[in-house]
Amino acid sequence: MCGIVGYVGKQNCTDVLINSLSRLEYRGYDSAGIAVFENGEIKVVKSKGRLTDLSARMETEGRPSGNVGIGHTRWATHGEPSDVNSHPHSGADVTLVHNGIIENYKKLKEFLIREGKEFKSETDTEVVAQLISYYYNGDPVEAIIKASKDIEGSFALGVVFRDFTDTIFALRRESPLIVGVGEDESFIASDVPAILQYTRNYYLLEPNEIAVLSPYSTKIYDQHYQAIEKELKTADWDMDAAEKQGYEHFMLKEIHEQPTAIKTTIASRITDGLPDLEECGITCEKLNSFRNIFIVACGTAMHAGVVGKYVIEKLARVPVVVDIASEFRYREPIVGDGDLVIIISQSGETADSLAALRLAKENGAKTLAIVNAKGSSIAREADMLMYTHAGPEIAVASTKAYMVQIAVMYLFAFELALAKGKISEDECKKLVSGLQNIPDVISGMLEDIDDSQYAAASLVNADSLLYIGRGLDYALSMEGSLKLKEISYIHSESYAAGELKHGTISLISENMPVIAVVTQPELAQKTVSNIKEVKARGAYVILVCSASITVDEDAYDLKLVVPDTDPLLMPMPAVVPLQLIAYYTSVLRGNDVDKPRNLAKSVTVE
Ligand code: M6R
Repeated sequence: MCGIVGYVGKQNCTDVLINSLSRLEYRGYDSAGIAVFENGEIKVVKSKGRLTDLSARMETEGRPSGNVGIGHTRWATHGEPSDVNSHPHSGADVTLVHNGIIENYKKLKEFLIREGKEFKSETDTEVVAQLISYYYNGDPVEAIIKASKDIEGSFALGVVFRDFTDTIFALRRESPLIVGVGEDESFIASDVPAILQYTRNYYLLEPNEIAVLSPYSTKIYDQHYQAIEKELKTADWDMDAAEKQGYEHFMLKEIHEQPTAIKTTIASRITDGLPDLEECGITCEKLNSFRNIFIVACGTAMHAGVVGKYVIEKLARVPVVVDIASEFRYREPIVGDGDLVIIISQSGETADSLAALRLAKENGAKTLAIVNAKGSSIAREADMLMYTHAGPEIAVASTKAYMVQIAVMYLFAFELALAKGKISEDECKKLVSGLQNIPDVISGMLEDIDDSQYAAASLVNADSLLYIGRGLDYALSMEGSLKLKEISYIHSESYAAGELKHGTISLISENMPVIAVVTQPELAQKTVSNIKEVKARGAYVILVCSASITVDEDAYDLKLVVPDTDPLLMPMPAVVPLQLIAYYTSVLRGNDVDKPRNLAKSVTVE
């Protein structure tokens, strides 16, 4: 989604803005632009395409020189990606950049047209620029507050006023925005990595707060124009965490970071060999009070929820419904008092997941957030919170975040099963110890990834493929399939292996490779029968299976072996070859692995 940056200080503002925007590229974008005060005038340069296109544009139009300005990467919502729709947008006195959606922009635009304003772009953003200008009467904060009262929707804004050449203004409603504080300089940004090379100190703006940044002061006001004091936070990530560190892509680096991410996420939540989730507000008493559990999330986070469902139901015998957040929020779910709604999100800002959380709370359910981004909206609004400690995930395709989401799902399931008396302490300790061993298993697997590369090479020219599995392997195949399609652009679906013959098997031919996941001993022979059925119909079969499961050699073309662990824990090691297959297929197809087309890292609009 769109990225906002802003700078006030002594450095060359254009350099700082471009540098900071490059740290937000992972969010996904299709155009970029900056506005910088040059000799007291606002100079805007913008371009469709990547930051390199913007830099090329500056070669011809001139590179703005100044110390104060705002910048933006746009992920198109209203109006196609084009030069004219790129941000910044301007009104008479105001130039601004925007993240989010203005829901009532049409009504506001009609009003402003009646007032004689003319529009250049198709964007909702230009409406905001014109509206703030309309209200501007010498006091920028007052104009921003007045305009914000008219605006419906979720947004964050970075604004400069023609009359205030050394100041930038910012407002946040739903979309995230931070204010970075350095020595005699300050910043605004959509996310921490954008400012890490300059400062680690920042304020997190709350909804409807307005920041006013000049070189020597940073003031924050509430929506009633009252100055407020805020806690200065310090980012616990360093630049290394946000750099590729010699890996060709962030995705590959993040796949390799998984063992450490698991260790960091689970270490402090295990006491004497048993799960200990009290610091997250999860007690035995609370766990025993929940009737039903809902897990609500989007994309990969939702797939982690599907693994969670299998594990919770198997161990704790509590019914779990997994819901796609965009469906949950509009289907009038039967959820309320006595229910627990778990929201899983890497970014903690996904619009549908946030809306689902609020709906669950309104209905009287208790909410638990499993979130990676510290201080994000979902983290702050949930009743209980379990942070995953994956560090910054930059690649759009989620890998290490999924891994740690699963890790905390396991801890939660173990604790719940223990609280419900469904497993003994000894059984629980055995499961916990198995979980603690997973990082070593994965580290070992990452030492030899040739088979995954070979599998990717065999798929590179495929038009379409199927992932199949049963039980936890089906849950895993959903994630494998999403990973492949989002970065390789090869169509793929995941299917419950036993469901194939109810229609989908008609698609099978020599042109439809199948990736079969077989890690669950009790279901293995059932899936093997399904594998033989697709093999007999010409499919090229890649088998991902546990070391101890035997499959006849003529049932597959290529086998990727996953070291044995407790079958319940197999999704953690078994997802690694699926991630690597997706990664190398994308590389071999020459795609932009970390920033796949049309996708955004943080989906802050519904
Ligand atoms: O930040 P979230 O975990 O809430 O994001 C949810 C999905 O948008 C995300 O997992 C998406 O599916 C990834 N691109 C998958 O790799």
